[in-house]
Amino acid sequence: MSVVVVGSVNADLVTRVTAHPAPGQTVAGQSMAVLAGGKGANQAVAAARLGARVAFVGAVGDDEFADVATSTLRTSGIDLSGLRVVAGPTGLALITVSADGENTIVVVPGANAAVDDAAVAANAAAIASADVVLLQGEIPTSGVEAAARAAAARVVLNLAPVVDLDPDVLRLADPLVVNEHEARGALALLGAPPDAGDLQDVAAALVRAGVRSVVVTLGAVGALVATPCATAQAGPPDVVAIPAPRVSALDTTGAGDAFVGALVQRLAAGVGLVDAARFAARVGAYAVTGAGAQASYPDAATPLPAVGDETAR
Ligand code: RIB
Ligand code: NA
Repeated sequence: MSVVVVGSVNADLVTRVTAHPAPGQTVAGQSMAVLAGGKGANQAVAAARLGARVAFVGAVGDDEFADVATSTLRTSGIDLSGLRVVAGPTGLALITVSADGENTIVVVPGANAAVDDAAVAANAAAIASADVVLLQGEIPTSGVEAAARAAAARVVLNLAPVVDLDPDVLRLADPLVVNEHEARGALALLGAPPDAGDLQDVAAALVRAGVRSVVVTLGAVGALVATPCATAQAGPPDVVAIPAPRVSALDTTGAGDAFVGALVQRLAAGVGLVDAARFAARVGAYAVTGAGAQASYPDAATPLPAVGDETAR
């Protein structure tokens, strides 16, 4: 089963700091690395390394960062016939990672701004033939919407960051993958009243607003999977809590992308959403134990931490 990712590719300029600088403050960085990143490329690499057949549609610039930005895409067996080189800079992410593994990220879109509806139209046949089309929010809205509409099978949408999408496109997502902040943003896009309840209620509200299925990622805690009620048509959505293995975090950058890529690899292999999310939580936990985004992703042979496995700490 094949996956097409339509999304961003960035060069990540990563510095490690003891603590993030506050506005107006200068801090000393301990190291600096230029790594392959971008949410689209990260998710494509995560899925491909775990065994999915993946094609990537995106764009890099004609500068010196294009090579490193695409380095892991090229070595992960991904079909890059839909990757264009456009005039101007490659997408860049300026990242600080603190001692506790948490990050701050500033993204400059650069060439990713070229992945619009016209770019999608040029790849419409590949998108229509995919078993899963995987999208994120780091390309123009017109590109996300066109790709979702060109898909003939399953659409997985990671609304990261929140962008102003047509609610009908959000409803096509199966699943919509969001963190807490993005879940509330998606609810607003759907015109639903803000949910003052807990995240289980927000996940259920997204399903009630017409989204086919929802995965809310909760970082170290795991995830929630929400789907329409299986037993009664008008019943409340089913919400399942997915635990994550406990690990000590070195670098959380791109761990959410590892989760999404792993989820899609399993969905493309025919696994159900809840079991796919259980696997994805293990892959996300593994990714936080290594430096960088793509550089920290497992392959199909990598032993993964398991829930309740204290030796993984
Ligand atoms: O999700 C992590 C990614 O966000 C980084 O690789 C960076 O490029 C930004 O897009
Ligand atoms: Na990592």
